[in-house]
Amino acid sequence: MILVTGGAGYIGSHTCIELINAGHKIVIVDNFCNSERKVIDTIQSITSSSVVCVDADVRDKQKLTGIFKNYPISAAMHFAGHKAVGESVAKPLSYYKNNIDSTLALCEVMDEFDVRKLIFSSSATVYDASNKMPLDEESSLGCTNPYGWTKLMIEQILRDLSISNDIWSIVSLRYFNPIGAHKSGKLGERPTGIPNNLMPYITQVASGKRDKLHVFGNDYPTIDGTGVRDYIHVVDLAEGHVRALDYARNHGGSQAINLGSGTGYSVLQIIEAFEHATNISIPYVIDPRRPGDIATCYAKTDKAKRLLNWQTQRSLAQMCEDSWRFESQK
Ligand code: NAD
Ligand code: WQD
Repeated sequence: MILVTGGAGYIGSHTCIELINAGHKIVIVDNFCNSERKVIDTIQSITSSSVVCVDADVRDKQKLTGIFKNYPISAAMHFAGHKAVGESVAKPLSYYKNNIDSTLALCEVMDEFDVRKLIFSSSATVYDASNKMPLDEESSLGCTNPYGWTKLMIEQILRDLSISNDIWSIVSLRYFNPIGAHKSGKLGERPTGIPNNLMPYITQVASGKRDKLHVFGNDYPTIDGTGVRDYIHVVDLAEGHVRALDYARNHGGSQAINLGSGTGYSVLQIIEAFEHATNISIPYVIDPRRPGDIATCYAKTDKAKRLLNWQTQRSLAQMCEDSWRFESQK
C-alpha cells in the first residue's frame, strides 16, 4: 500500500485517483487543515474503490506509527504541508514547523518500519530568480520566502538521508504551476478566501464571484508585458507521480525532477485561452507588479522524459475547460 500524506488536498486527491487507476492500494493521512472530508467520498465514487483515510497530523508520530503497524505500507508520497507564499512571510514559524516537522516525523517512522521509498512535493520555487530559462534541475537554487525555503531545506534533508543509507530511494518533484481539475468536475482546487493564484481567480471572475481580474504588471520583458509561467494540468502532474513511484521502486538514491509542460504562457494568453475555451469574457485591469514575482518561469523537461518516461498530455484549452467545469459545478 502507498501512504499518501495530504491526500485530501488539491494535488494529493488527483494523485490518489491515478494511483488507484494504476492498481495501487492507498492509505491517506490528512488533518484537513486545508481540505474537506467529502473529498475522500469523491475519490471513492470516482474510482469505485474504498479508500482508507486516517484523520491525523503527519507530525503525530504515535498515529503515524499506528498506520505503519496496521497497513503494509511499501512507499510514501508526501503532499502534506502549508503552501501559501504570502502567508509564509507572515507566519514563518508555522510554515517551518508544519512542513519540516511533518517530513522529519514521516521519514523517522518510515525508517523504523524499513520503508524507504519516498516521493516528495517540491516546487519550482526552489530555483533562484537569476536563472536563465528554461530551468533545468542543475539551475541554481535559492528562495525569497519561507515557504520556498521549507521546500529547499526538505530537499536537502532528503538528499542527506539518501547519502546516509543508499537503501533510501527518494524523488523530489519540482512542480511548476498546477491548474485544471478532474474531468468529472467533482474534484479540483478550492481555495478559501481570495485566491492567490491566477486560475482560481479567473474561474471566480467567470462565475461572478469576483468583478474582475487584477493583472499584476504589464511591463515585464515578455511577449505582452505580463508574467509568463509553465502551467501543467493537475492530472498530468498526478500521472507523473505514478511514474516517479515506479522509478523509485527500481532505483536507489535521490533525484530532483521538474514536472512542467516546458511551455510558458503569459497572463493575457491564459485569459484569452480561458475565454476561448468557455465563451465567457474575463474583465481585467492592469495593476502594479506583485512583489516577489519574476517575469518568466518555465521548465526544461528532459529529465522527466528520460527518467520517468513522462511528459504532459493535456493542452491549455483542456486545463481551462476542466478548471471551469469544476468551478461551475460547485
Ligand atoms: P493542499 O493544501 O490542497 O493540500 C495539502 C493537504 O495537506 C491538505 O489536504 C491539508 O489538509 C494537508 N495537511 C497540511 N498539513 C498537514 C499535516 N501536518 N498533517 C496532515 N495533513 C496536512 O495543497 P496542494 O496544492 O495539493 O499541494 C500539495 C503539495 O504540493 C504541498 O506540499 C505544496 O507545497 C506542493 N506544491 C503545490 C503547488 C501548487 O501550486 N498547488 C506547487 C508546488 C508545490
Ligand atoms: C501566475 C501569474 C502572477 C494572480 C505560485 C507560487 C509558487 C507555486 C505555484 C507552490 C503571475 C499573475 C496571479 C492574479 C495575476 N506554489 N497573477 N493576477 O506566482 O507563478 O506561483 O504558485 O509551490 O511557489 O509562488 O503562480 O498563479 O500566483 O501567478 O496577474 O490575481 O499570474 O503575477 O505572473 P506563481 P500564480
